[in-house]
Amino acid sequence: MSDQPSSFSAPRGTRDLLPPESWRWHRVFDVALNRVFGPAGYEPMDTPIFEHTEVFERGVGEATEVVSKQMYTFNDRGGRSLTLRPEATAGIVRAVLENRLDRGSLPVKLLCWGPMFRQERPQKGRYRQFTQIDIEAIGSEGPAIDAEIIELAARFLSEAGAECRLLLNSLGHLDGSCRLGYLKALVDYLRTHENELAPEDRSRIDDNPLRAFDSKEEPTIAVMKGAPAITDHLCNDCEQHFDEVRRLLDALDLEYTIDHTLVRGLDYYTRTAFEFVSDDVGAQASVLGGGRYDGLAESLGGGHLPGIGFALGVDRLLLASRTLSEWQPRHVGVFVVALGDRARSEALPIVTELRRAGVGADWDLMGRGMKGQMKSADRSGANWAVILGDDELDAGEVTLKDLATGEQQRIARGQLVIRVRAKES
Ligand code: HAM
Repeated sequence: MSDQPSSFSAPRGTRDLLPPESWRWHRVFDVALNRVFGPAGYEPMDTPIFEHTEVFERGVGEATEVVSKQMYTFNDRGGRSLTLRPEATAGIVRAVLENRLDRGSLPVKLLCWGPMFRQERPQKGRYRQFTQIDIEAIGSEGPAIDAEIIELAARFLSEAGAECRLLLNSLGHLDGSCRLGYLKALVDYLRTHENELAPEDRSRIDDNPLRAFDSKEEPTIAVMKGAPAITDHLCNDCEQHFDEVRRLLDALDLEYTIDHTLVRGLDYYTRTAFEFVSDDVGAQASVLGGGRYDGLAESLGGGHLPGIGFALGVDRLLLASRTLSEWQPRHVGVFVVALGDRARSEALPIVTELRRAGVGADWDLMGRGMKGQMKSADRSGANWAVILGDDELDAGEVTLKDLATGEQQRIARGQLVIRVRAKES
């Protein structure tokens, strides 16, 4: 055993994923893929961890905090600018266009998970490398898919034991009359309150006034509470779209609050925007966020290809979930406790026989005594201990102990697999 801790620590804002949390992590993906999104027709995929920097500049938007301040961008040896993905949506739409998935049957329904990278100031629930589960439905403009996606998000969060509130907004069309009219009203409002804004937010009034809603500066947050609401400026088409999304959510008994300050920090959003927030995550209340991005494919050089999706922060979900923190894997069903040298040499064949029969089995590899091995058995989560000593060996038997009740009985060694399987089922 080494006394010396390493001279290195993980880079700031990153962390090691260790047991038992790592089990819960995989449990989240299992529920996502096999219980909620897979059965609703969403298929797993992944994109490279790094993309050409332009994918994010053009997709997410150069004026956003994510692109202008938080990206890990580097030149490779060939001099190309590459960026560790700060989010998945732009890369997924790039992949859909490049692989022509949009020429097949629509909508393309995809699920992707993996690490994302943003150089933010680390705090509880906010990391520089974090993991998202990202869901996208690409190809349909209609409001039904918005409601489907939001219902799936709500159900997934509830299956994962996170109590969250749903905030909803509509941002109108990117180039439509509603967005342009609204931006004008917003700029006028920001100009009248310019002196009350935080200095760094004043400079963006003309370039990208919507970003004032993302400000983390208290003076700006106070001003934005009184800002004009985009939902008061929607054109007829956008209003009808939003009405239908809400009608469908009502029909599904999903509760939500309209929050006209919700603009979601990334430039590609159009129409529906939503976020699920939790009071259990500290200042980083947003557990899951998403929305429609009907112009994203075009900003990446493709044709018109509307889409909607969301990403969920797995790190934050684990903070928000009340059930996952208690969830224990039960993979090891039997722990073999071997007492004495003869028994030790017989233990591995027994463990292997159990494993080959599909029964999870583990044993002591450190030469511990009876007490230490029984402790390991408890820690392993096993239901049964198989105890093997000289007595048992001489009789061709083993002792089978129920670790929950403490009851134990001797059985013929040849009966072990059958007995354990019968008790497990
Ligand atoms: P986002 O709101 O930037 O959206 O991130 C989505 C989620 O990722 C957040 O709600 C949060 O749980 C998690 N997250 C973001 N930054 C961090 C961080 N530094 N540390 C820990 N967790 C974090 C997007 O990324 C969009 N691509 C979502 C989307 C998909 N929109 C349409 N499709």
